[in-house]
Amino acid sequence: MNKSFLEAIGIEYPIIQAPMAGGITTPELVANVSESGGLGMIAAGYLNPNQLKVAIQEVKKRVDKPFGVNIFVPSDFTYSSQHVENMQLMMKSIYDELQLTDYKVKELPKFKDQQAIFEQHLQVILDEGIKVCSFTFGLPTEEQIKQLRQAGVYTIGTATTVREALIIQELGMDAAVMQGSEAGGHRSHFLSSFEEGNIGLIALVPQAVEEIDIPIIAAGGIMNGRGIRACLELGAQAAQMGTAFLALKESGAQNLHKTAILNAAEDELVFTKSFSGKWARGIRNEFTEEMKSNEAMTLPFPIQNTLTQPIRKEAAKQNKAAYMSLWSGQAPRLATNVDVTTLMDRLIKELN
Ligand SMILES: Cc1cc2nc3c(=O)[nH]c(=O)nc-3n(C[C@H](O)[C@H](O)[C@H](O)COP(=O)(O)O)c2cc1C
Repeated sequence: MNKSFLEAIGIEYPIIQAPMAGGITTPELVANVSESGGLGMIAAGYLNPNQLKVAIQEVKKRVDKPFGVNIFVPSDFTYSSQHVENMQLMMKSIYDELQLTDYKVKELPKFKDQQAIFEQHLQVILDEGIKVCSFTFGLPTEEQIKQLRQAGVYTIGTATTVREALIIQELGMDAAVMQGSEAGGHRSHFLSSFEEGNIGLIALVPQAVEEIDIPIIAAGGIMNGRGIRACLELGAQAAQMGTAFLALKESGAQNLHKTAILNAAEDELVFTKSFSGKWARGIRNEFTEEMKSNEAMTLPFPIQNTLTQPIRKEAAKQNKAAYMSLWSGQAPRLATNVDVTTLMDRLIKELN
């Protein structure tokens, strides 16, 4: 194991709790992972800058060790109002099923607002003296990376192919997460297409290690000490794990989501872009099946995400997992619902 990577971040074990946007990475989850010697990560994706600030301060109150923040990099999008209307009509039967009467979303996100939020997120990270900042869905500018690094922030990009990781390295970032096709949640590709970037971790990590000089972090389907050891054996410096932490006591995931993961098997997972407009891996349900034939009509992220928000929210309220986004990696059989300390103790024991 390369100690210098762990030393650079200031953690004891090569275990990174994946950032998981949507209320999952509670301050308790993040703080307890860092307290146990791993790296806890706040997902800032759907937080406004003030909410991010509060979340950071809540983690700081609980732990005196390094933790990270992950932010979404916005990209421009176009769509027509006709396209929006068609999609809303397509989803009308689901609105009816949930007895949602007003299915017209009033305000849709604008790219310039997303960009402004991204810049404010960066400012919060600088103001709060965050040690580690990772990015998904794209990359910050060279200037922004320089500014973060000068402030002592360790910067991490996310890639699905070696081609993407090379750009991360060229831009001057400190490390790259290689997201294998096993991974739960959204695909992080930004240069390669979804299909090109669908590479299993056992093929992806050694190729990245061969071509890239900066540290590689493996992500996708890693659930236990054996999995982490396998990734280190392939040349990665650490493992980033999402699903393994998602059903834990401290996780803020909906109980229905946790239960779905704890009961899921490896052959129940699908890729869908119907929830958000970006491809993501989750547990198959009525929504993914009903929307499958309409996938080509999906609006770009974050428009589609906004259009399905009332459905996801109401479904959660009515206890209907059928219409919720149940993101999960490909190894849900290995998920547990213990607390963070118990999981971390087990992982550390299995690592040694
Ligand atoms: C519910 C959920 C939400 C996620 N949200 C984010 C996110 O906000 N930012 C990010 O970089 N990755 C996100 N990911 C992807 C993880 O970083 C990581 O690639 C993935 O969890 C690894 O696969 P695993 O779930 O099998 O461990 C998310 C994953 C899940 C399961």
